[in-house]
Amino acid sequence: MSVASQRLMENVTYEDLYKRWEQGNWSAYEIDFSADVAGWAGLSDIQRRSAMWIYSMFFYGEDRVADTLAPYVTAAPTEEQSYFLATQQVDEVRHSLFFHRFFKEVIGVGGTSIEDTLASTLPQLNWGYRGVFDRLDRMAVELTKDTSLPKYAQAITLYHLIVEGSLAQPGQHFIEDFFASQDTMPGFSAGMGNVSRDEQRHIGFGVKVLSELLAPEHPAGEECRAAVVELLKEVLAYTPAVFRPPNLDRAYTECYGFTMEDIYAFGLRLVRQRWRTIGFPVEEMPPGVFPFDPAKSEEQLAAEQVRMMLGGILGPADGSVTPSTDPELMRLYFEMTARVADPAAANGKPLVYQWNFSDAEPWHLVVENGSARAEPGVATNPAVRIEATWADWLASTKPDAKPLKMVLNRKIRPRGSIRELARLRKVFAS
Ligand SMILES: [Fe+2]
Ligand SMILES: [Fe+2]
Repeated sequence: MSVASQRLMENVTYEDLYKRWEQGNWSAYEIDFSADVAGWAGLSDIQRRSAMWIYSMFFYGEDRVADTLAPYVTAAPTEEQSYFLATQQVDEVRHSLFFHRFFKEVIGVGGTSIEDTLASTLPQLNWGYRGVFDRLDRMAVELTKDTSLPKYAQAITLYHLIVEGSLAQPGQHFIEDFFASQDTMPGFSAGMGNVSRDEQRHIGFGVKVLSELLAPEHPAGEECRAAVVELLKEVLAYTPAVFRPPNLDRAYTECYGFTMEDIYAFGLRLVRQRWRTIGFPVEEMPPGVFPFDPAKSEEQLAAEQVRMMLGGILGPADGSVTPSTDPELMRLYFEMTARVADPAAANGKPLVYQWNFSDAEPWHLVVENGSARAEPGVATNPAVRIEATWADWLASTKPDAKPLKMVLNRKIRPRGSIRELARLRKVFAS
């Protein structure tokens, strides 16, 4: 950890975080929504549809985080952390109630029970969102059975860094900005201001906990780092797809004055900053965790991610978009694949992997001298050749895919010796 970030974390104590909670208490029932009804009616049709999409993610999310935090209180290694987490659980309940009221009183959907109102959010939740929140549900069950420090570090990573830090915060940032500048939804703006202050405290707690647990001098530091890496690899394929708008329609963000690229760049910047503060920068993580070129700016990376999302390369393989065969997008995809490869698993010998697509240009990967590079075209003597359609290949790499089944029903056809196929699995184990 750098000296500066270490100081930053040492300056914030768990006691400070608790005190800030006492001082920042607010009431979800005292928010006055009376002027917001007219504000809502004054929005355009696309703005209302977009708001339903974004706020459904918030409302469902607040409900899930409220329900899943209890095992964290029990698993926390110190009373100070445990007490803070108990205050956080109260916050999440308050956030959920704030959205329940907003849905009922301003949007005019939902019913008398929280469950009824939550039901109205379900059609809005996409593949990326469900991937992350289903994992959060399972994490709570795992943490009930396993209260070890590595499991706790994994759970904090998912909850505080991913859900709160890289999904909720970028969403909040842009929504808050829009309504604050318009002043047409005063109740909503006041409530969201409170929610985002609470969330900053929660994220600060998560960063502090991880900066302690992942420190090289911590007795469980190495195990905690390994557990965090495992979790990140599991869920990071879902996270960019959370902000994939319905029908891939850019109007969902642009009607509020920001682009998809703005959200992605803002999120990436936060991710890079936070892991640096924790003392485990993304550049120091093993290959395949953050498969981005470290030399590129957040703006460049965001633009590339959005292009790959709109081109059907990132995101779900549900057949809703035919993956683009644009050479530039295929290049971005294979460069990402090259960064996921672990050259150490190649045992120092040059290795070539070939992809032959029945409906797109061939590509190959050369792993040698401790690095991997992607090149278009056909290579001579590849160790393994993979034949598939472009869409099937992409589908086989999604986190919820069953690649073995795809091999068995011949949608993916790997050709090579048993030894080389086993090695391929090691190269891409990360
Ligand atoms: Fe919250
Ligand atoms: Fe929170």
